[in-house]
Amino acid sequence: MTPDANTPAAAAATSGVLLVLAHPALERSRANRALAKTAKSLPGVTFHDLYEVYPDFSIEIDVEQARLLAHDVIALQFPLYWFSTPSLLKEWLDLVWLHGFAYGLEGNALAGKRLFVACTTGATAKAFHAHGYNRFSMDDYLRPLEQVAYQCGMVWETPFVVHGAAVKTDEALRAEADRYRERLASLTAVQADGLGA
Ligand SMILES: Cc1cc2nc3c(=O)[nH]c(=O)nc-3n(C[C@H](O)[C@H](O)[C@H](O)COP(=O)(O)O)c2cc1C
Repeated sequence: MTPDANTPAAAAATSGVLLVLAHPALERSRANRALAKTAKSLPGVTFHDLYEVYPDFSIEIDVEQARLLAHDVIALQFPLYWFSTPSLLKEWLDLVWLHGFAYGLEGNALAGKRLFVACTTGATAKAFHAHGYNRFSMDDYLRPLEQVAYQCGMVWETPFVVHGAAVKTDEALRAEADRYRERLASLTAVQADGLGA
């Protein structure tokens, strides 16, 4: 059985970083594909491609909740779409991170875990500024997810962002993938040291 097989047993089999990728057209992706390739090769990272597993959006809630429970770090990787997440990632949050599970009086399943966002954008870093054409910072656009972490009692990790993804050369993307590898490795290392949540 592979770690990303969609069964409750597989969901419960691993620990470490659960990397949830949401890209509706990975075959046409450059940035997320490069990052995903790097992430997949790392020990301690369970790779979970939402659009591959749920092309029809029929999310298996129990399996996904078990998968979340089995990991200490939840990483969300996605391209910024309309200043938000691709729709399947939002659907997954809506259906899986439920009251009584993720939040609410008795919903503490994710408390103490860490939430890490890795996001690529079409616009360059300059645009994400009060005087740029996106008017707000990247931190502002990620605020809803930061608040999700807070509401679930999770630790919000500094996001990993690749700006201007569409205009990056292959070499520049390789450098970003190296930066990503280091960041993911540091997330798994903290855990291995017993310093994680
Ligand atoms: C439907 C859609 C919406 C998008 N919205 C944004 C956006 O709000 N801000 C932005 O900077 N880029 C936006 N983009 C550009 C993507 O973020 C960019 O193409 C992606 O991060 C590149 O990664 P990839 O090579 O993995 O596809 C959008 C692209 C699509 C297709």
